[in-house]
Amino acid sequence: MSQIKHFTSLADVDDPQKLVEEVITWKNQPANPDFAKGFSLVLLFFNPSLRTRLSSQRAAQLLGMDSMVLDVGSSWPLEFDLGTVMDQNKSEHIKEAAAVISQYADIIGIRSFPTLENRDLDYSEPVIEAFKKYGDRPVVNLESGTGHPLQGLADMTTIREHRKTERPRVLLTWAPHPRALPQSVPNSFAEWTLAQDYDLVIAHPEGYDLDPRFTQGATIMHDPDTAYEGVDFVYAKNWSSYQEYGKILDRNPTWMVDAKKMSKTNNAFFMHCLPVRRNVVVADDVIDSKQSLVIQQSNNRTFAAMAVLRNIITNINT
Ligand code: CP
Repeated sequence: MSQIKHFTSLADVDDPQKLVEEVITWKNQPANPDFAKGFSLVLLFFNPSLRTRLSSQRAAQLLGMDSMVLDVGSSWPLEFDLGTVMDQNKSEHIKEAAAVISQYADIIGIRSFPTLENRDLDYSEPVIEAFKKYGDRPVVNLESGTGHPLQGLADMTTIREHRKTERPRVLLTWAPHPRALPQSVPNSFAEWTLAQDYDLVIAHPEGYDLDPRFTQGATIMHDPDTAYEGVDFVYAKNWSSYQEYGKILDRNPTWMVDAKKMSKTNNAFFMHCLPVRRNVVVADDVIDSKQSLVIQQSNNRTFAAMAVLRNIITNINT
């Protein structure tokens, strides 16, 4: 079994391929409600969630662990800067908040989206790093400015279950969206796919290059038609520009995933992390087809979270 201290990015995992195998092994075993009896998971949401919130709580439940959720927007506004005269709208400092929450939790999960205004700030992961610094509990990233590693692990599990060759060709394609979205999901999908040693193609309009730290080893294309040729999996996601940080540079609807593009593939499976805007990101007939894996991906979120929680608890107990 792997042993994980924090799960904030791929870098926290010694052997990402082994972890995927562990997810599949435990998914196919009966639940063990005694494994984490007496342990407490606190989930902090600075932003909305459907899948991450429920699958993390379900994972805790299957391990016999208690879970508590705090929608941070309904709590005291937090100050993160040091030395601030707190005479404005922030009521509590992260120093106290992280220390207090650590007393109630054995593991802390955090969802905190980026500002999409200040790249250096967002990519320094201020919220996760503050909880690591001022709290004393393992931290799980539930999607942050730079990554969504639980989604990456669930996606790799889904590909592992459906791949027909050892090294499938996987396309990560940008798709249009009316709002500016983080780079976290595509960053994690790229780095987890490359860590499985799959053949990764990333297709996007000019100006949408991701941070090269996540894409080293991928083939980059800018033509949405040729990128689909011969691929086994198509993973669609919108993201805002990393270079012109947080900006929408393109709304070109021809990047939407449709049946014509899918017909160029090797009968590829369609993937998306959800939520997805139908007929903007992907056409109805693709997401509704038998090749669509979006519901299976969401199911694997539970088992990915279970594997991570199991490994962290094993590490605590050691
Ligand atoms: N994919 C994902 O993280 O979904 P939620 O935003 O609903 O948690």
